[in-house]
Amino acid sequence: MKVIVDEAHGAQFYFSDKLPLSAMECDADMTAISMHKTAGSFTQSSAILCKGDRVDYSRLRSSLNMLQSTSPSSLLIASLDVARKTMYFEGQKRIDKLLSMAKDTRNKLSQIPGITVYDREYFIKHNSFDYDETKIIVKVSDLGLSGFEVYKMMRQKYNVQLELAESHIILAVLTIGTTKQHLDSLVQGFKKLSTEYYKQRDKLPKIDFDYTYPEAYARPRDAYHAPNKIIELDKATGEIAAEQVMIYPPGIPMLIPGEIISADVIDDIKFYLSKGSALQSDLDENHIRVVDKENWLKWEGETDEFQKS
Ligand SMILES: Cc1ncc(COP(=O)(O)O)c(C=O)c1O
Repeated sequence: MKVIVDEAHGAQFYFSDKLPLSAMECDADMTAISMHKTAGSFTQSSAILCKGDRVDYSRLRSSLNMLQSTSPSSLLIASLDVARKTMYFEGQKRIDKLLSMAKDTRNKLSQIPGITVYDREYFIKHNSFDYDETKIIVKVSDLGLSGFEVYKMMRQKYNVQLELAESHIILAVLTIGTTKQHLDSLVQGFKKLSTEYYKQRDKLPKIDFDYTYPEAYARPRDAYHAPNKIIELDKATGEIAAEQVMIYPPGIPMLIPGEIISADVIDDIKFYLSKGSALQSDLDENHIRVVDKENWLKWEGETDEFQKS
């Protein structure tokens, strides 16, 4: 089997021996790296790296040709080139500095009341193989705030753009462009949030996610092109999704076209909305686009048994 890695957040691994092994070092066949996320190129400039003789290079080229514009952007390509050159000649030194700033920031953050930093020790104890220390993961729920609330406040009040939020945590990603000033703002922001909220609000309760695996009725393409109708989210249990619903950040779909909408997924969507997360879907928060089964040829052949279930 060929191994293709989603290494979106690992472009910097290629330029330092103090970071986890890169996919290519682990002998993967292919990997996609988002140079723009952590290695300083313009947004939208990513790269596919390949290795060995198991990759069909001409098929890769023809697949890319099907998806890409025939007019490549000189700006993006030049920016990739500059970022690669900078990382090649200065990456090791810059990442050393970044790791030292990250360590200092972790120490400062862990002294703030109500804040817990999940560090290398935590992840290794929980069976991770390694840990990328340019990522700072902070548990914020003891402040009585959700990660989503902290994400918004950090941006609006303290001018800090975090990478993502979850119900109980936030993630700050340090990149080759991160400065001491940026990290000072992060620490200052947390100090102020702690003074304002710690012990003023109840801690958020622990959540036990009992996640049911989504069941798909049709391929995404079939459901997306099927006749559809808009109904209230509350009445959507058992319907087939005709749109994609994501919570942002991080933008991982909770529903994709073709999936059967369960009561659980509706509860999860409402939970995230109640915590201040933004919904990315075709419609407003109370409605959803579903397949209009009565007018769908594919449904007419369905057995009574499925319709009942
Ligand atoms: C794990 C993961 N893979 C892929 C992507 C998409 O990468 P790109 O923005 O370079 O298309 C992201 C973006 O956030 C990501 O987090």
